[in-house]
Amino acid sequence: MRTFESIGIASLGLKIPSFFLDLKDFAQLRGTDPNKYTIGLSCHEMALCLDQHTVVDLALGAARRALMRWKGGLDQIGFLAIGTESALDMSAPLTKWVARELKISGALRSYEVKHACLGGTLALRQAYEWRCSPASKGKAALVIAVDDTLYEASSPGEPTQGAGAVAMIVDKPLIAEIDPCSHSWSYPADDFWRPIGEPYPHVNGPLSLECYNQGALACFQDCCDYTKQTLGGFLETIKGMSFHTPFPKMVQKALGALCDKSEISKGSADKAKNLFLEKVAPYLTWNQKIGNSMTASLWFSVAQNLCGRQIGEQISAFSYGSGCGAELQLLTAGPEARAAAWAEDLQDDFSQRTQLSGQDYDHFRRLNEVLKDGTSKTGLSKDEQKLRQAS
Ligand code: COA
Repeated sequence: MRTFESIGIASLGLKIPSFFLDLKDFAQLRGTDPNKYTIGLSCHEMALCLDQHTVVDLALGAARRALMRWKGGLDQIGFLAIGTESALDMSAPLTKWVARELKISGALRSYEVKHACLGGTLALRQAYEWRCSPASKGKAALVIAVDDTLYEASSPGEPTQGAGAVAMIVDKPLIAEIDPCSHSWSYPADDFWRPIGEPYPHVNGPLSLECYNQGALACFQDCCDYTKQTLGGFLETIKGMSFHTPFPKMVQKALGALCDKSEISKGSADKAKNLFLEKVAPYLTWNQKIGNSMTASLWFSVAQNLCGRQIGEQISAFSYGSGCGAELQLLTAGPEARAAAWAEDLQDDFSQRTQLSGQDYDHFRRLNEVLKDGTSKTGLSKDEQKLRQAS
């Protein structure tokens, strides 16, 4: 650990919805070989928001858990940012609903960040840079990454749905120190987008995989240039790697591209496979049970990656957002990583959630289509309608 004042993640809170669908049941519903999803994409389950459960509930659930474990009070939060692509309004930030429920107001910077799945990471970087600056006046930041991902029924993206929220308090590096330098990359691309007023995203899957790999290669190379190591040396010394995870096979392919570039896999494809099994796969098992939670997916993997770490162990966090942009950060485990208090959030949520049958899911999709029609008539998003019904 460094001796000068370092800033990082002081507390973590996780929340997933109370329903899920097994991908084998989904495959049966859609008349597909289940191996396509469980082996081809390496996905097992998808978490689903039903009934009155909204992104606000998920964000609040994660934030309350992070705040409960933090020793500071609400009056010490001076910054609240949410990264999401499940916005409720084109003008008002999602933080409006969350701040109202948490009763945080006053001397506070509160806003929403949008850049597809990169939004949570950008919110975290902004919080970090704010916390390091005199503007924070020593207060802490609360950052939430949250999404509820639904693709059009029967579209290729449908097996890669999911939902969840990760909240992080940025202050003293009790769980992990955030490296001051991060490595970013961006160029305009039409790989994934959701036009205003449309309920589901459009995705050019193969292009999104290509952009993701390019982003990974560029960010890891920039990091190695900065830290003066070879890419092969970096991959061999880093303790664990987390990636944005639309579906785990995408991550494995990106690691394969990194190994090819570093020549780590030269002469033996097993080397790349073993590296994946040792340093990446163990931190994807939560994602395999949650599905693609967009902005939150990287941070679920990071939360799992930090569990039980010794002080000083370094991990990497690679974020990607369509459109497109990427950012690689290094995190160093702090004194509270070993106890991993946040792991109980998901132990509780996984054990209490309800499994849907393929028929239940099909019924839910049909209801959603009705809501979608309502959306075009009322101009309200699905989540906004749920909120109005609930209030
Ligand atoms: N058993 C085992 N594997 C199988 C299989 C079976 N019966 N059937 C297919 N597969 C494999 C395929 O070989 C392929 O693996 P490969 O890419 O390693 O060759 C994988 O399963 C997917 O099959 P594919 O035919 O490519 O699926 P698809 O055309 O239905 O679409 C995606 C796959 C990933 C493109 C689609 O799910 C998608 O668009 N997802 C969203 C992507 C995304 O989130 N992008 C933006 C975020 S950054």
